[in-house]
Amino acid sequence: MQSLKRRYTDLAPRENHDRTAVSRIKSDAEIGRRETDNSLAKRFTKTDSPQLTTDEEMEFDRNDLIISRTDIRGTITYCNNIFTKMSGWTQEELLGSNHNLIRHPDMPKVAYQLVWDNIKANNEFYGYVKNLRKDGGYYWVFAYITADLNDEGEIAGYTSYRRYAPKLAIDTMKPIYKLLIEAEKEGGIEASIKLLGGFLNKTGFSSYDQFIVDLQIKANATLQ
Ligand SMILES: Cc1cc2nc3c(=O)[nH]c(=O)nc-3n(C[C@H](O)[C@H](O)[C@H](O)COP(=O)(O)O)c2cc1C
Repeated sequence: MQSLKRRYTDLAPRENHDRTAVSRIKSDAEIGRRETDNSLAKRFTKTDSPQLTTDEEMEFDRNDLIISRTDIRGTITYCNNIFTKMSGWTQEELLGSNHNLIRHPDMPKVAYQLVWDNIKANNEFYGYVKNLRKDGGYYWVFAYITADLNDEGEIAGYTSYRRYAPKLAIDTMKPIYKLLIEAEKEGGIEASIKLLGGFLNKTGFSSYDQFIVDLQIKANATLQ
């Protein structure tokens, strides 16, 4: 079992990742605007995303890194050009929009409950996410989300980094997400929370975080 003390860069694919990328780009990202006032012209949410999804997967390059930052409500205040490339939305469209614009219907609600429970408590979140592209296609990522604190130590917003998700991890998550969505259809989010808790118990993981980190390490080890 891995120690909880690790950095996101430690969980990147082994061969070709740049260990300084996150810290370097994080400081570049400081230029991203945090305010979400009227100066941000476009405000899209998931109701503006394509209603028809397709089976077209956009492959995530192993060297790519998506970055976005949000205010405390999840409104996008910064995005890099890999995000625009992968999502199909322009930077102008993304800035000021809710991050749920790229929410894919194959993702269970409980995944986002875990995101927000963790980041609002200033804990880091790790997880695999299937995201919806503007053209109805999708892409998988291994995501890390963390709170950004202001000088007073209060949460001022959030930053997310996404990397390539290895096939083993995606193949592991697909049936789990499917079961969680089925549980949500039957018994709401309480049912999927219960199902996930039971699964973690049975597989011997003390938390979802432990399960994900363990999976990412195993999945990275399969990469050529
Ligand atoms: C920094 C940050 C990054 C996020 N990235 C994504 C993302 O890539 N895809 C996604 O569907 N939701 C993402 N979310 C979560 C969304 O804000 C939202 O909770 C989720 O899409 C579910 O939306 P819904 O509850 O309105 O259905 C992110 C949130 C934050 C704070």
